[in-house]
Amino acid sequence: MSTYDLIIIGAGPGGYNAAIRAGQLGLKAAIVEKRDTKKLGGTCLNVGCIPSKSLLHASELYEAAATRFAGLGIKTGGVSLDLPQMLKQKDEAVDGLTRGVEFLMKKNKVETFLGAGEIVERGKVRVTGADGKTTDLSARHIVIATGSEPAPLKGVEIDEKTIVSSTGALTFSSVPKHLVVIGAGVIGLELGSVWRRLGSKVTVIEFLDRVLPGMDGEVSKTFQRILAKQGMTFRLSSKVTGVEKMKSGLMVKVEPAAGGVPEIIDADAVLVAIGRRPYTAGLGLERLGVKRDKRGFIETDQFRTSVESVFAIGDVIAGPMLAHRAEDDGVACVELIAGKAGHVNYDRVPNVVYTWPEVASVGKSEEELKAVGVVYKIGKFQFAANSRAKTNHETDGFVKILADAKTDLLLGCHIVGIGAGEMIAEAVSVMEFGGASEDIARTCHAHPTRSEAVRQAAMAVEGWAMQA
Ligand code: FAD
Ligand code: NAI
Repeated sequence: MSTYDLIIIGAGPGGYNAAIRAGQLGLKAAIVEKRDTKKLGGTCLNVGCIPSKSLLHASELYEAAATRFAGLGIKTGGVSLDLPQMLKQKDEAVDGLTRGVEFLMKKNKVETFLGAGEIVERGKVRVTGADGKTTDLSARHIVIATGSEPAPLKGVEIDEKTIVSSTGALTFSSVPKHLVVIGAGVIGLELGSVWRRLGSKVTVIEFLDRVLPGMDGEVSKTFQRILAKQGMTFRLSSKVTGVEKMKSGLMVKVEPAAGGVPEIIDADAVLVAIGRRPYTAGLGLERLGVKRDKRGFIETDQFRTSVESVFAIGDVIAGPMLAHRAEDDGVACVELIAGKAGHVNYDRVPNVVYTWPEVASVGKSEEELKAVGVVYKIGKFQFAANSRAKTNHETDGFVKILADAKTDLLLGCHIVGIGAGEMIAEAVSVMEFGGASEDIARTCHAHPTRSEAVRQAAMAVEGWAMQA
């Protein structure tokens, strides 16, 4: 039986980054992955971040070419969609990146085992390959990084053809005429945007009274208004109680969230995007005694589970279900195993929605600060007053900075606008260094850039924004 310092189960951003760090620190590591495509990279590379961003990018250019190029003085002579090619280039991006992870495993001397990992007892993992063959491995430490899966909705059976989860929504072979999206969260708004740009009528049905419920309220409102202007229809405070397949399409039964008279909406496709849940099937956790919370997340303290020498990271434990967070968990967990001081600050994990425009945030929202009674100041700056945004005719959105009223400590930054996902990094860094809004206000920003709006918003905290 091969023996390792560390066996990692699951090769997503949590698992493969843990493996890289283990290799860097001189630990003998193995990684186990059961994905039937045999590709490493987990949900993120195979059916998540990467394919969705590929389609967002391509569909964004398609829409720009069809609707905005003429205004910039670019004649295209008619733009048409080649969906098979768009899907192919997405698959190529996924292939390239998953092969990159294979390379990184080899480079860092991590052994890869393809098959389902089960912890048969403390320190022992059995890998069952697709052909049923088993390989037994042993290790001083085991890290569970098995990620998450789409949450199901009662009364709605996913077939990944017309009634799809995010996975099926990445591979529609033709553009649905009417796509009903259940859930106005990140997946619903990103993938809803993709198919709207490619020609679908998109109706989003959301249980709560706002889109992106976890985000700052003002951001949610502005963003919904922008998406509605782009042609997306919203039905808030509503729930879907069933979807029926008919010969001519799908019948979606919708009623008010609080209950009431149901209504039928006809659709060609339905995307169920009501959240994700931790994935732990087949790991043998009950037998081992690894505790999970009510929602199924593995309970951890500094990545340590209730069973000695068994650790867990990423989507399978509570916290933001994001690739960069899983990556940071992986690094910190392995550093702790190696006797170093691994640590992740969950208050500084940025959140980005990759639509057009993007939405990005870090730290606290106004609602969160009010709830804990923190007195804060707001600095806001509209992209309509930013020279670069005006020049490019891309003026939707704003930057909003929240700072402690007494100390000026930066507490949160919320951006709606083109490039928000890149701009948020500045606020994350300043917050990590314990910086104040004045630190951004007095930092030189290149002109003309959209990031000047971040500086102007920081200046606005003390009332000296200069360009508004
Ligand atoms: P995963 O990536 O889920 O990886 C877990 C791996 O473990 C899987 O490959 C699974 O096959 C494997 N596994 C499970 N059980 C076993 C077993 N018993 N044996 C062996 N292998 C096993 N996040 C972002 O930060 N940015 C984005 O833009 C973004 N976009 C997304 C878009 C979509 C459509 C989706 C669905 C998600 C997106 N996410 C995004 C979320 C991101 O994908 C996850 O947060 C991230 O993948 C979690 O990483 P992980 O390593 O914890 O788990
Ligand atoms: P989500 O939690 O972001 O949004 C789910 C939405 O569905 C919520 O608004 C919720 O109120 C609503 N909802 C729940 N039950 C409902 C019901 N019965 N009817 C109608 N609405 C209902 O989850 P989503 O969009 O599925 O994404 C899952 C996770 O994947 C995200 O939370 C995020 O962590 C990750 N992700 C991240 C991305 C990014 O970083 N850009 C992109 C895509 C996914």
